[in-house]
Amino acid sequence: MLTTGPRGTRDVLPGESGFWQYVEAVARDTCRRFAYREIRTPIFEHTELFLRGIGETTDIVEKEMYTFCDRGNRSLTLRPENTAAVVRSFLEHKLYSEPMPVKLYYIGPMFRYDRPQAGRYRQFHQFGIEAIGAKGPAIDAEVIVLAEEFLHTLGLRDLDLKINTVGCPACRPQYRQALREYLAGKLEHLCQDCRTRYERNPLRVLDCKEEQCSRQITDAPKVVDHLCRDCAEHFAGLQELLTAAGVKYELAPRLVRGLDYYTNTAFEIQYPPLGAQSAVCGGGRYDGLIEECGGVPTPGIGFAIGLERVILALEKQNLLPASDLAVDVFFAPLGAAALPAAFRLLTRLRAAGLVCEMDFLGRSLKGQLKHAARCQAKYVAILGENELTAGKILLRDMRTGEQRLVDLLEGENSLLAEVRA
Ligand code: HAM
Repeated sequence: MLTTGPRGTRDVLPGESGFWQYVEAVARDTCRRFAYREIRTPIFEHTELFLRGIGETTDIVEKEMYTFCDRGNRSLTLRPENTAAVVRSFLEHKLYSEPMPVKLYYIGPMFRYDRPQAGRYRQFHQFGIEAIGAKGPAIDAEVIVLAEEFLHTLGLRDLDLKINTVGCPACRPQYRQALREYLAGKLEHLCQDCRTRYERNPLRVLDCKEEQCSRQITDAPKVVDHLCRDCAEHFAGLQELLTAAGVKYELAPRLVRGLDYYTNTAFEIQYPPLGAQSAVCGGGRYDGLIEECGGVPTPGIGFAIGLERVILALEKQNLLPASDLAVDVFFAPLGAAALPAAFRLLTRLRAAGLVCEMDFLGRSLKGQLKHAARCQAKYVAILGENELTAGKILLRDMRTGEQRLVDLLEGENSLLAEVRA
């Protein structure tokens, strides 16, 4: 047990952390170009926030939350997603007093008690954005274009963007009724969960992953055929803007998403080669969430992208950058007497910005050169007794194998000049 992490968690090992830094840097730069600012909220929140925000009939709330009581007997939950927490923070810190829309992004771990498999974990990481305070379709289009821009900057190809609308409180009851009537004759063919969903929230049936249920919904009524005028106009406006921006999309009339806060626009970006976990990005509009959390009615829209899945897709397309740390100068002091001079120069070169490494195990010169090669060192600075008495260091160019004696006093400058040349 002590040598195995909890099921559904992963260690990002040194060989992989460069991939994460790269993907996160592209996310940050994309947000900068679209004028989104970072927000960092806590890893845990009051359980009530997610019950109210995400919805009591969702899989996340019913089956997947990590909920615990702290020593003060408060019910807390590790965040399964971050939209509700961003809204909580928006209200708590009165971010609504800033010019609207307030455009925010986050990168961090989320927690869901899911069945782990490739691309699905219990602790996973999302890059997400939330744009709060604008209701027209232009902000929906911006949010979708940002997701696309991030994925394209990474070089990913063969992604499918699917969009839908899930209506609003004005038109959804009528749709819900139509769906219920359609499902009424099929109840015996639905899974146990969906029979309960039929009673409590029939839209959730459209989102069920069980094959027996997906078979039953192929001819189900579509939300788009039951929209009020505002929702229909909003959806048409979004499509016009996506086309204007040159974004290719597919209409997905059964896409409802697994969280209850969505209104109007819902979308996903999928990378089909990831199989069952092909959803790389999911998002949508949540015009009722801020009021539900105690604020004045304020519209919002956002998405979250699963970074583990992005890295899996990059790996499949051979797009991950080389992650090795190449050393500029490897110091090879030979004997205890040479160590202080080597250490002094090493410290100064590091302060000047070079990547420096040294031998810590007292290896022989041959062993040190071998280790330097493993570190992909460009130069090895050898300091032996002879060099030290002559006030010199022996500088070996690892690419050519050439060796030169360099004045120790001027060593710093000449090494800097050599490496930077
Ligand atoms: P979501 O669809 O639940 O939406 O999650 C978004 C993305 O997170 C998924 O498309 C997937 O890439 C990744 N993801 C979800 N669960 C897991 C898991 N167990 N393991 C690995 N990756 C996972 C949300 O979370 C909403 N908060 C998105 C949003 C923001 N809507 C509006 N604003």
